This record gives sequence, C-alpha cells and structure tokens, in this order.
Amino acid sequence: MSRLDGKRILVGVTGGIAAYKSAELVRLLGKQGAEVRVVMTAAAGEFITPMTLQALSGYPVRQSLFDQAHEAAMGHIELARWADLILIAPASADFMARLAQGMADDLLTTLCLARTVPLAIAPAMNQAMWANPATQANLATLQSRGIDCWGPDAGSQACGEVGPGRMLEPEAQTELVIARLSAGPLQGVKVLLTAGPTREPIDPVRYVGNRSSGKMGFSLARALREAGADVSLVSGPVSLATPAGVKRTDVETALQMRQAVLEQVVECDIFVACAAVADYRPREVAGQKIKKQQEQLEIRLERNPDILAEVAALESPPFTVGFAAETDKPIEYAQQKRKNKRVNMVAANLVGAEQGGFERDENALTVVWEGGQQALPMSDKGELAKRLVELIVEQYEQNN
Ligand code: C5P
Repeated sequence: MSRLDGKRILVGVTGGIAAYKSAELVRLLGKQGAEVRVVMTAAAGEFITPMTLQALSGYPVRQSLFDQAHEAAMGHIELARWADLILIAPASADFMARLAQGMADDLLTTLCLARTVPLAIAPAMNQAMWANPATQANLATLQSRGIDCWGPDAGSQACGEVGPGRMLEPEAQTELVIARLSAGPLQGVKVLLTAGPTREPIDPVRYVGNRSSGKMGFSLARALREAGADVSLVSGPVSLATPAGVKRTDVETALQMRQAVLEQVVECDIFVACAAVADYRPREVAGQKIKKQQEQLEIRLERNPDILAEVAALESPPFTVGFAAETDKPIEYAQQKRKNKRVNMVAANLVGAEQGGFERDENALTVVWEGGQQALPMSDKGELAKRLVELIVEQYEQNN
C-alpha cells in the first residue's frame, strides 16, 4: 500500500527559483497515493508553468481567486477544507510575510486564512533574506500559530551565495507529509495539560507571580496533538498562541487552575502538569489598591493546593506526569517528588541564572519514572517536547 493512499494534499507554489522542484514534489506525493491539487501565486507563474503541474497532478492548476469556472466547480473555501494538509513549497519571503499578516489578497493566502487543516511551509529564499530579522519574526509568528516550517536546507544557492535558504528536497518533504498525516501513537487518547504561571492577586492591580513563559507547556501541547492525542490545555496568563487543534481554557490563579483541572480530569487518560503553580497566595486580597503609606508592608501568604498531587490521589487517576524545576540535584529531587506525589513520571530541569529553564527557548530535562530515567539534552523546547512525548508514550503504554 502506498503511504498516502486516500490523503488529499493541496500544494501551494509561490514565486522563487525552487518552484521548479515543486513539480517533483507533486509527482512524489502522487506516487505515494495522494490526491494532489495545486494552487500557484502569480509570481510562481514566472518560474514554472501551470501546464507542468497540471500534467503531474492530473488536475487543472488554480491561480486566481476570481476564476468563475473554477469557483463553480469547487469554491475556494471548499478547496481549503477539502485538503488534509496544505503545503506551501516553495514559500517565498513575501509569502511568509503575507501569511504572518493574515492577508487574503490572492487565492493562496485566502485559502490559508480559511483553512481548518494543518499547514506546512517549506521556505526557499536567498540566505540574507532568510536571516533578515523581519523574516525570522514572521517565522516565529507562523510557528506560534501552529504552522509547521520544514527546512530550509543550507548550501549553495541559485543566486550564487551559500547559506541557509534552499528549499528542503522534495523527497524529505514527502517523508514529512507522511509523518504528519499518519495516525500518531496517542490517537484516541485524551490528555489534560497545565501550562504557564499563575498570578495570585494582592490587590486589584498587583499580584505574586513567577517567571514561567509557558513555552514548554505549549510546545508539549503541540507535540501531544501531533502524536494524535485529543489535547485540553489549562493555561495561566501567557502571551502565546494556542497550538492548532488544542482546546484551551484560560485561568489566572492556582485556585482557578485547580477548578478547571478537576472539571476536566475525569475524562482524561493522561494528565501533564507543566504549569509553574504558585505555592502560596496572599491570605487577604485588598479590595482597593494598597497605598504606599507604611514604611514596611507585610503580606501574609497561605498554601495553595497541589493540583498534581490531588489528581494523582484520585480514586482512579490518569497517567500523571509532573515537572520539577530545581536549582540543584535535579534527579534526586525529581525521584523524591515522584514518590511523594505518587505520579508516574517527573521531568526535572535545572533553573537559575546559569542553567536556563524559565523564559528561554531552549531547555534540558532529566525524566524519571519508577525504575528508570533518561536525560534529554539541551535543545529547542519544540524538539525537547517531541522527545518527552516519546517517553510519555512508552511509559503510558507500559502502564496500560
Ligand atoms: O512541588 P513542586 O511545586 O516542585 O512540584 C512541581 C510539579 O507540581 C509541577 O508538575 C507542577 O505543575 C505541579 N504543581 C501543581 N500544583 C501546585 C504546585 C505544583 O500541580 N500547587
């Protein structure tokens, strides 16, 4: 059986010299059994003819939003929903900028805006254009919205320069399409996840908080979703976009987080507590802004409930995964925490000025479970989340 049998892929081609490789991409996807439709931007037509892509996909290529004949056959919204995946290859710097801005000024951007299916881009451009902070900012925006970025490769470029900016080869893109569309190991598994910090109010304008950015939790939500899980995320205040396909509940305080978790936990198979929940909250919350009259001000704090421990102590608890941010001896404390809270797995990281952890894009973890441990080396939080999900899958399957 071909690995993309029954899958529908919309390939978007934008203006760049790498567009000549889109022909091979369309051919390879078709060879794997996929039904492929091609949409080109006006600029793409300067590099490759619609006839080539029509011959390889077996369908007329669409180029304009205002094409009456095509709109009558399959409207642009219908086309956006028809696909299982939209892949823009090559994605030019201009196209990435328009996508990041949410523009809908041609057929391809409109399709991307109207879609509800996964979207991946395979950028291709001159190395300086790729390195430009504007392109990198657009990339960050796109990734934060759950759009996959495949490549680019580094090497010699059509313009004669050398560096990152070459479109990922069609063979590699085909493999990524296969991986993206195959049923993940967590298909049908419900995961509840907490992420971000909590804010414990002192008065209407001030709070006790912490430095958690929520990046690790959001990366995990995305990786779990990509592994096929049905993911519900309970998030403290963060400025991050919800990963595609993830259900999100926003909360502010630890008590609100506990409430949201307890409401949803009965239905879940796996609970991942990634949030940096404040251990204490101010005992009294002033109704009005506290004035600076006294030389010293005392705020009395009381303990917050431990959400993870509470979930692990349920009569029939889900498979539980906790985190431990430590300034020293992470493995020792993580094993202790695992036993004390009676959770299945604990992922420990070193935090502090030197080590990283909070507010950073990279992290390293040591994951412990009963009778085992594994170190996951320093890497981008997205990559790290994927590795951690692999370990969660292994341990979850052993426990079921
Ligand atoms: O005990 P400690 O706070 O170090 O444990 C951290 C782990 O417990 C994390 O997984 C965190 O999400 C979870 N936790 C919680 N509720 C709290 C405190 C921590 O769920 N009140």
